[in-house]
Amino acid sequence: MLPETFLNELRYNTDIEQVISRYVQLRRRGRNLTGLCPFHSEKTPSFTVYPDTQSFYCFGCGAGGDAITFMRKIENLDYMEAVRTLAERAGMAVPEGTVDDGSRQQKARILELNRAAARHFHQNLMSDMGRGARKYLVGRGLTKATVVKFGIGFAPESWDDLRDHLRGKGFTDQEMIAAALVNPGKNGGCYDAFRNRVIFPIIDLRGGVIAFGGRNLGEKGPKYLNSGDTPVFKKSRNLFALNFAKSTKRPELILCEGYMDVVSVHQGGFDNAVATLGTSLTPEQAKLISNYTKTVVLSYDSDGAGQTATKRAIAIFEDTGVKVRVLSIPDAKDPDEFLKKFGPQRFELLLEGSAGAIDFEIQKLKKGYDMDSPEGRVGFLQDFVRLMAGIPSPIQREVYLSKVCRELEVDKQAVALQLETALRRKKNGEKKRDARELRPFTARQASAKTDIEKQKHPKYVLAEERLIAYLVRDPGAWDWVGREVTAEELISPRDREIFQAVAARLSDGLAADMMSLSGVLGEEAMARLSEILASPGGENISAREAEDYIRTLKSFYTEKTKEQVGSMEEEDLRSYIASIAAKKK
Ligand code: UTP
Ligand code: MN
Repeated sequence: MLPETFLNELRYNTDIEQVISRYVQLRRRGRNLTGLCPFHSEKTPSFTVYPDTQSFYCFGCGAGGDAITFMRKIENLDYMEAVRTLAERAGMAVPEGTVDDGSRQQKARILELNRAAARHFHQNLMSDMGRGARKYLVGRGLTKATVVKFGIGFAPESWDDLRDHLRGKGFTDQEMIAAALVNPGKNGGCYDAFRNRVIFPIIDLRGGVIAFGGRNLGEKGPKYLNSGDTPVFKKSRNLFALNFAKSTKRPELILCEGYMDVVSVHQGGFDNAVATLGTSLTPEQAKLISNYTKTVVLSYDSDGAGQTATKRAIAIFEDTGVKVRVLSIPDAKDPDEFLKKFGPQRFELLLEGSAGAIDFEIQKLKKGYDMDSPEGRVGFLQDFVRLMAGIPSPIQREVYLSKVCRELEVDKQAVALQLETALRRKKNGEKKRDARELRPFTARQASAKTDIEKQKHPKYVLAEERLIAYLVRDPGAWDWVGREVTAEELISPRDREIFQAVAARLSDGLAADMMSLSGVLGEEAMARLSEILASPGGENISAREAEDYIRTLKSFYTEKTKEQVGSMEEEDLRSYIASIAAKKK
């Protein structure tokens, strides 16, 4: 636990508005600020920052909390790491002895181990044993400068080359296994995971070596091998070469399929290429990309798999606000091959001319039909209408509609009518889907739980929400509220937990603001508390109103008695009995 004095100082030195505005563009709206939520994709801002309670809450996905919660979520940190980050930013020293939770140490250790491994792989490549691998890389057109810039390395055909090297450096087998650089053997022991491969280190935005990819030089095993997830690496959240591309001066990012493409494209003078790490693009990666650019150029292989991946990526980018262009690469299977065949100038032209995602889709559709036959054109138009219905901007729809109808010499009015029907149908379907799609967010699930209580007893749950808001905003009121109410008298178990945490701190004479509570409440409870504080009408509660809320709460049980205790659900019954016990005290 952190000392209270430290917490007080941190609170004094931290302004949630400043913390969040480094990640989210905020606009003032009255007393509060709003922006696009960094935790889910949205086009209109539902993310709100409340300076007076030093909290944030997103009405779209239900994420919420204080500055510490925000740092944890956005940078993927644990509690102490987030505290340390905020403290460092405020120029404060974190008290010794409080930061040593195991996970932070383990992460630091794995990063150290990865760095040692990367150095070893690179030395292998540059030494005698790396001659074959060097020849391979030269054959693929890479210069020495590129090899050095990316820290490319080599793992020989050996079961223990890396393992023994790292043991010599004082790393344990457990640590190597945790870093996914060795695999545990069947009879104890462990052996190198990367063998006879060219190695690409994956570097995060802070310059840490977080994982590796390996290109096979032989026949055994898959062509590319990628580190699995480790405490310092989540495949779905990282991109290869973003550490370089993040500082590009070019207006777009180029998204390639793999390591070799990215390395070639960088060598060709384009420092804005990144790749996913042996998986198809995830929404998290799309979101990450949207933090760095307004336009992404999809530059996947020209084969069927690449085109399928392109379509999926377009769909994933749809909600991020990032404009998508598609590079169609003529006479080459991928950017790497294209650059080798035609050089960087031609690639630049390709980049400039890369068609919009919609043009790409329309061309694709046409290829599926015999456009010379009337049946073919009808089939195409049906698909085209469906495609148009997915485009949010009416102006864009109009432009493509006119263009295609002119090309095909069909009556635009008729097609427009079909489009209207399709749009209506889509809208109705979407309303239902929206509600479903928001669920994956944990915070939302949490509040959905309370919503059950809220639906069952809206009046009472509102009363307890207001009471909690009252105490957090006006801690001095605990003197009398604490004598009147106990946590057991609250209806929803979730709010009871929050009330308990607030009560425990206030009874000890400690602060019970958002930042203090984030040390004792979990992520879901913090989100719920922010929801409570964000709920309109809870800002200026007077003592008289608070008394009313308390009276309402207490009446829950008397009303229930009238309704006959026998029909209560178990949870309610338990609270009821507790409340009687509390009153007797
Ligand atoms: P490709 O097979 O098209 O790779 O797979 P490539 O980059 O053209 O390979 P080279 O040029 O022959 O070296 C595209 C990407 O898919 C991932 C890799 O990231 C690769 O770059 N991949 C492919 C794997 O993760 N595992 C595999 O076995 C194959
Ligand atoms: Mn290739």
